[in-house]
This record gives sequence, structure tokens and C-alpha cells, in this order.
Amino acid sequence: MAPGPALTWALADGIAVVTFDLPGEPVNKISRAVKQDVLATFEALERDAQVQAVAFFSGKPDTFIAGADIEEFVTLTSAAEAERLSADGQDLLERVARFPKPIAVGIHGACLGGGLEFALACGYRVASDHPKTQLGLPEVQLGILPGAGGCQRLPRLIGARAALDMILTGKVEPAPRAFRLGIVDELVHPATLKDITLAAAKRMAGGWRTKRRRRGGLVAWLLDGNPLGRQLVFRTARKQVRVKTGGNYPAPLAALEAVEHGLKHGIREGLKREAQLFGQLAVTDVSRKLVQIFFATTALKKDFGIPNPPPPVAVRRLGVVGAGFMGSGIAGTAVVQAGVDVRMKDADLPRVAKGLAAAREILDDRLKRRRITRYEHARLAALLSGGDTYAGFGRAELVIEAVFEDLQVKQQVLGEVEAAIPESAAFASNTSTIPIHRIAAAARRPEQVIGMHFFSPVARMPLLEVIPSQRTAPGVISTAVAFGRRLGKTPIVVQDSPGFWINRILTPYMNEAGQLLAAGVAIEEMDRLMVQFGFPVGPITLLDEVGMDVAEKVAGVMYDAFGERFTPSPAFAGMVKSGRLGRKTGKGFYTYDGAKKGGVDAAVYELIGTQPNGGPRPAEIIQRLVLVMLNEAARAVGEGIVRSPRDGDIGAIFGFGFPPFRGGPLRHADDLGPARIVGELERLAERYGARFAPCDVLQEHARANTKFYP
Ligand code: 3HC
Repeated sequence: MAPGPALTWALADGIAVVTFDLPGEPVNKISRAVKQDVLATFEALERDAQVQAVAFFSGKPDTFIAGADIEEFVTLTSAAEAERLSADGQDLLERVARFPKPIAVGIHGACLGGGLEFALACGYRVASDHPKTQLGLPEVQLGILPGAGGCQRLPRLIGARAALDMILTGKVEPAPRAFRLGIVDELVHPATLKDITLAAAKRMAGGWRTKRRRRGGLVAWLLDGNPLGRQLVFRTARKQVRVKTGGNYPAPLAALEAVEHGLKHGIREGLKREAQLFGQLAVTDVSRKLVQIFFATTALKKDFGIPNPPPPVAVRRLGVVGAGFMGSGIAGTAVVQAGVDVRMKDADLPRVAKGLAAAREILDDRLKRRRITRYEHARLAALLSGGDTYAGFGRAELVIEAVFEDLQVKQQVLGEVEAAIPESAAFASNTSTIPIHRIAAAARRPEQVIGMHFFSPVARMPLLEVIPSQRTAPGVISTAVAFGRRLGKTPIVVQDSPGFWINRILTPYMNEAGQLLAAGVAIEEMDRLMVQFGFPVGPITLLDEVGMDVAEKVAGVMYDAFGERFTPSPAFAGMVKSGRLGRKTGKGFYTYDGAKKGGVDAAVYELIGTQPNGGPRPAEIIQRLVLVMLNEAARAVGEGIVRSPRDGDIGAIFGFGFPPFRGGPLRHADDLGPARIVGELERLAERYGARFAPCDVLQEHARANTKFYP
């Protein structure tokens, strides 16, 4: 059925009040059909002599416009077709920009991609000062660039440096910051958005025009305002992009070129180049993979991991047991993201005080980055409290424990917590390896026990593994997933098995890194190769970040559970014994000077019992590390550890940074092809032992010529 018109309008005192409300959709997005509708509406507004100016709003409660319709990109098959799509969007927005009557937009909610490009083409922008009002050009995160004039209009409005900062990272800015940058002309309370936008349209109808001053004084003039300064800006930005993307993501460099070309040769030429580059990017494999990740993440937002999930309990008070690094991270994140009352508990008051201070640092950081106001900071800080007893836990709906990774310790905490909390409250363990049913074996109410595995640092890592045991009540699963979402995390519900999903596939990778070290591969060489493959850091740096003691513990649990193929690498034992635990102790494989990472500590090779001698060829190093992980991932999928390849891929990307442009380990396995992987694993198994023996799932796919994804 054809959707009804997306745009409607009514005349009020000479001002056409236009409302964009895409029927049957949760957000406004700009598709081909919507473009036709916009065109027809603006033609009618132009013709109607009573219309003196336009005030434009969204009819959706929480979004202004979410951008171009991403589903349309998926159907594009050639660069030429994609270029046309971009050029059509540009033409439409050129008409908006040249519209003979002034247009003011009232922005409330997400104003992203093509949505912001539309707003930029209008004469005046009013935005609501509401946390949901966020503006940005996130296109590069989809592997494309702002292709409806965004690479031209934004730098002209706010200067090349500020525009590149947004366009090249795809970051989204809250309305107050967009106002400070000069993207928004007026920042208002949501209740007054409509009136103030109408008033602006009315003023403009009377001939008034806003005077925009370029911000930033002399420096801005030197760097943004003249060609020589700009050359320097582009050179520096290009260098930074190359380092950041490692050549794996073409979109930021292309966006940079579109901006530079437009500033050098004028807006018409700039638009042309922008559309060409958009066309090329839209059909790349990288863009396809990033778009798949967008849709997978969106689907996960609605997925509670079980059929017919009962409504979640609204958590108002959270108890956190264990005020260490993880506990304080969870507490601070819960306060800042969800605004819940948090009560921390640890064995003694000095530890609690340290934990509270660490939790508060998360608030301080938000304040420093101007993501919250001073007033909000004070209000949120007051929600944090703690003690060395369970006082205050009597009103908690959820308690998360983040104590020492030891079954008995966790069971003891569980017993104490159960005695202190209401019968209906849930108990979550932040264990990274211990099966939840084993912890719950000591519970009085095992149906209330669940795993919530956060990643470190909690405030920054986007993944949450939610692990129900077979006895966990469905309502507790919904509550854990919903609470994880309130903390800004993407939860995946995984099976209760040692190491769950992330440590299950990460441990063989880490063990293999140890084998390679023992075989004479240099530390920085291995890290460099895996960064080149697309990981944010290499395996040895990751070990330093995680902490060798933690890694050793995980490796031990996994070996006990799965036996020989998880044999821990002997190369690492010496590190723990000598207290080289990684960043947190100031020395690991690398040296650390405060927060700054130095070079490899040569003394480490003695502890490992080997010296770098080149080791295997680079291609084989990558092959061994990647295939050992892919093999375990395939095996775990076969066991149902994750519910779908989608969950497994999102988990690996968000949990430890599996290269997004490869789509996750299972998509990557599909790309390589199961038959090829099986062949390579067989060769590796012959040379290096049974840990490489291809799992049944891969063999079956190879035999049947099937894949993880249809
Ligand atoms: N295109 C197609 N579908 C979109 C969309 C878009 N731009 N934005 C959101 N949706 C869909 C989602 O897939 C989801 O669909 P579903 O209900 O069928 O699963 C639905 O809208 C609701 O989305 P969310 O569940 O994500 O809703 P939230 O309220 O949590 O978030 C949002 C809203 C912040 C707008 C978020 O959806 C978002 O970030 N969207 C993408 C924004 C974006 O990347 N825009 C750039 C597009 S590319 C572009 O504009 C190119 C231009 O330069 C030419």
C-alpha cells in the first residue's frame, strides 16, 4: 500500500507550518518517495501567495529526521546509480536553499545525516535543549559520506576544522554543543520550540536575516578563513585519518576530499565531487558491512533474547557489591546513564570510598566534556552512596556483584545479598567465566540469579553479555536486558557456558598469541599485524589492558572446561609471577608512564623464555590468530552459545573490537568461505597440532557449501 503524504501543512498568520511525519514509521527518513513529497509541498508553498515564510517541524515525538533512508542504499547495485541518488538529494536541497520564501526549522530529537543536511539548507535553525536533540553527520559510520551537500554546507557554516571534526568521525553532538559550534541559531526549551520557530519565520517574512559571526577569532581566520591555513588543516587531518583508519575505511578520506574540493573550487564543483565519491563508497563491501552492523544493532534494541519476554522491572535502586574497577565502573555508568540510585558495598570503608571516587570520575569526565551541566553533575553525584554493610539494599530491584572471580567468594556474596534484598529483586553476577548455574547452585532463589558481564572500562565498552541459567525466570532476563540498554549498552543474551561468548572465542586467540611469542615473533610485530588486520589494538597490548592475572585466571577456567585445545601458553606464566600484570601495575609487555604507553620492555623476553627471531611469516601469524578464533566461534555457534550469527558478530565487534569492516568473525568466515578455512585449518593442524582441527560446524558448511548467513 502506498504510504500517505509524509508532509502536511497549514497556514497560520502568513506562515506555512509544515509537519513531516512519515506514516507507519517510527522515525522520519528521506526516501525517494519522501523527496517527491517534499518537492510537491514546496512547489505548492511557492505558488500560494498567502505563504510568506515556512516553519518546518517533525511530527515524531523523538526524532526530527534520521537521515536518508538507509534501506535504499542496500538496493543500489552500481556506483552510477548511487551517484544519481546523491545528486537527486543535492538537487532537492539546492531548491530548498534557494527557495524564495524564508524557512525556519524547529529541531527536536535526532537530526542526523540527510536530516541535518536538510536543516543546513534552511535559513534559520532553532533546536530544543533536550537530551534527545542530537545533531550530526554519521555517514562515515555507514561507510559513506554526507552526500546531500553536507560536505559543502557544514564547513561554510562553522569552518573547515569544526566541520571535519564532525564529518570525519561521524560523531553526533548534543544540541547545546551544536549551538556553541554555530550549527544551531537558537537553543530553546522544548515547550517553546514551536512558538520561537514560528516567530523566527515571521521575522524573516518581514525581511529580517540572522547575522552569523564566524567563531574562534584570529586562529579561526588563519586556519579556516584563508587557503594557506586550510591547506595545513587538510594535511593534518589527512594524516590523522590515515593513522586512525589504517587504510581500512575509505569513507573519511573521501569525505575529506569532498570538503576540500568544494572549498577550493566552489560549491557546484564540490557537490559534483561529493556525489561521485558518495556513489563509489555506497557500493563498497566496507559500507555493506557497516550498514549490516547498523541494522543488526537496531534489531538488537528490540530483542530481549527470549520469546514473549515479560515486561522488565523498572530499576530505581541498584546495589553494587565490590567497589573495585568493575564495580565502580558499573556504579558510575548506572548513575550517569540511567539516573538510578546506586548503593555500593565492599568489605571496608576505605575501599568503598575509593570506589565511590572512581564512580564519580565518570561523572566528572562527562562534565569536563560538557555532556552534562554542573547542576546535573551535582544531582547525579548525590545518587551515589556506599558502605561496608548491606544497608540500603532492602529497596534495590537489582544487585550486581563485581567481586573477586572465585566461585566460593561469589556464592558467599550471593547468600549475603539474598538475605538483604526483597524476594522480588534480581541478583546479577559480573563474572567473565564462571557458569551462572554454578553460582546459583548456592542460591535460595536461583530463578532470580543471572549473569551480566560488563567489559572494561565499563563506561566506554558498548557490549553487555546477559547470561541466564536454565533456572533464571524470564522476567529477570527482561530486566537485565532492559537495564543494560538503559546503561547505553548493547546486550546479547548468551548461553550459560564457561567463558560465555566473548572469552570463549578470545581465549584461543590469546593462547595462540603466546604460542607465537614462544615461536620467536616480536611483541610489537604481532601487535602491528593485528592492528593492520583491523583490530583496535593487538593481542599483546590487549593482554596488558585486561591484566595478566585476569587473563591467566580466564585461561585456567577455560582449560578446565574445554581441555587440551585451550592449553594455556606457558609463555605467560612468568609475567604473572614477576608481577608484570599490565597497565594497572605500570609494567607489562610494554612500559607505562602513567597513562602513557611506552615501548616494549626488552626484559620481558627473558620471562617468556625466548628471544624474537622473526618467527613465522606475517601472513601465517595473522592466519593462525584469526583462524583459531574463527574455528572456536563456529564451534560455539554450533553449540548455541549465541542465538544467531548476528549476535555473535555484534558481540565480537562491540566486545573486543573485531574489525567492523569485516562484519564480525562469522561474516568474515563466510567471506573466506568454509571450504578454504577448513583446508587452511587442516594444514595448520598437521604442523602445529590438534588445536587447529576444524570443528564439525565448519566441516559441515564446507561439505554442504553453506554459510552462517543466508
Ligand atoms: N534509514 C532507514 N531506517 C532507519 C533510519 C534511516 N536513516 N534511521 C532509523 N531507522 C529505522 C531503524 O532501522 C528502526 O527500524 P525498525 O523499527 O524497523 O527496526 C527504526 O527506524 C527505529 O530506529 P531505532 O530503533 O534505532 O530508534 P532509536 O529511537 O533508538 O534511534 C536514531 C533513532 C537515533 C535516529 C537511530 O535510528 C539512528 O541513529 N539512525 C541512523 C542515523 C543515520 O545514520 N543517518 C544517516 C543516514 S545516511 C544519510 O543520511 C546519507 C545522506 O548524506 C545522503
